[in-house]
Amino acid sequence: MRLTDEEKRMLAGEQGEALRLSLEVLTRIGEVYGAERLVSVSSVHASCMYPDFGAAVDILEKFRDLGGKFQTVTTVNPTVNPDNVNRWADLPEPPELKSASTRQMSAIRSMGVIPNWSCTPYFQGNLPRVGECVSWIESSAVIFANSVLGARTNRTTMGIDVASAIAGRAPEFGLLLDGDRAGNVLVKVEFEPQTMFDFNTIGYIIGKACSGKVPVIEGLPAWTTANHLKVMGAAAATRGGLALYHAVGITPEAPTRRKAFRGKSPEFDISIKKKDLKGALDDMNTIKKGGVQAVLVGCPHPRVNEIKELTELLDGKKVREDIKFCLFISSDVLNFSRQMGYIDVLEACGVRLFEGDCIVFHNVNKWGWKNVATNSAKYACTLPSGPYYLGVLYTDIKGCVDLATK
Ligand code: F3S
Repeated sequence: MRLTDEEKRMLAGEQGEALRLSLEVLTRIGEVYGAERLVSVSSVHASCMYPDFGAAVDILEKFRDLGGKFQTVTTVNPTVNPDNVNRWADLPEPPELKSASTRQMSAIRSMGVIPNWSCTPYFQGNLPRVGECVSWIESSAVIFANSVLGARTNRTTMGIDVASAIAGRAPEFGLLLDGDRAGNVLVKVEFEPQTMFDFNTIGYIIGKACSGKVPVIEGLPAWTTANHLKVMGAAAATRGGLALYHAVGITPEAPTRRKAFRGKSPEFDISIKKKDLKGALDDMNTIKKGGVQAVLVGCPHPRVNEIKELTELLDGKKVREDIKFCLFISSDVLNFSRQMGYIDVLEACGVRLFEGDCIVFHNVNKWGWKNVATNSAKYACTLPSGPYYLGVLYTDIKGCVDLATK
């Protein structure tokens, strides 16, 4: 790779061991992927918060102990929040998990992270503009950054996120370059989606049909919001490993179909009709014998309007004793929702709040649950496989409430 003089000095250790190690990590990754240089990144979204995975703790503490300080705006994904573990002590987490999580949180805080603890950093001030290079992790956030914001990021992995944050750089390859951002599959949505659940399910269908591709999506309504795109992208990224799509007339690099394809022809095309939603629901419903023990909502982390809808559906009802109704939520949305009176209602109904948290970081396979219900296609795709092995009832938010309160 061609390094600048300053980068050569960093790599030689002249600016400290944390920068030296960061440059070593980034240049080695760059060499593997054929990058010719490093480029500046204007932000990082880190997701190194896997307290159950010893290496994740070691990576953070190593960079911290070497004197690492984040040079660029850096937000962070949810984690096992020890406050939630204390509050919901009937969900049995071993003390080691809490202490590992506390160590990780302390290490990343000391390097200068913005402690948003959420998978929606773009709603918490980490908002790159079109064309900005960033280094983000968390598949739902990566696809949002690339597709909705028009920023440029690869699907960064643990360790590289921290190295990028310290060095303020990333190796230039893949989706940081124009060539890999051209659409190559045409997706025609041939009905008007109505709800967040429809967008979730469309995302699943796109992910399944377009794995590893860059779909160009036509037919989404002009009123499609960032929140609809949030859930659609999360589902597509989880089901198909997608990191970028273009929605014609909606997202920045797709003012027209031709621009989205960069003048090339699609490799194939698919159409999505209303009746296809049913097949996707059948795919995602993996419920096993043994009833539903929990309802999980808030994936990706919700906005206030989603909390309002949930509050209106639950108001005056009580969650059944035999069901845990878990809401995963970022601190900012929790704070606003509390001020607006929603949280008092939800808590009175029996909803369990998991602030800055997400089920995937927990030892949920040891909690005795067989099945969960969720309105999230991302959870529906993730939780049936290891290490969770849960059956999933995938249903809309009203279905989740009805099931938990009847
Ligand atoms: Fe966020 Fe967890 Fe879902 S990190 S996108 S709530 S799987």
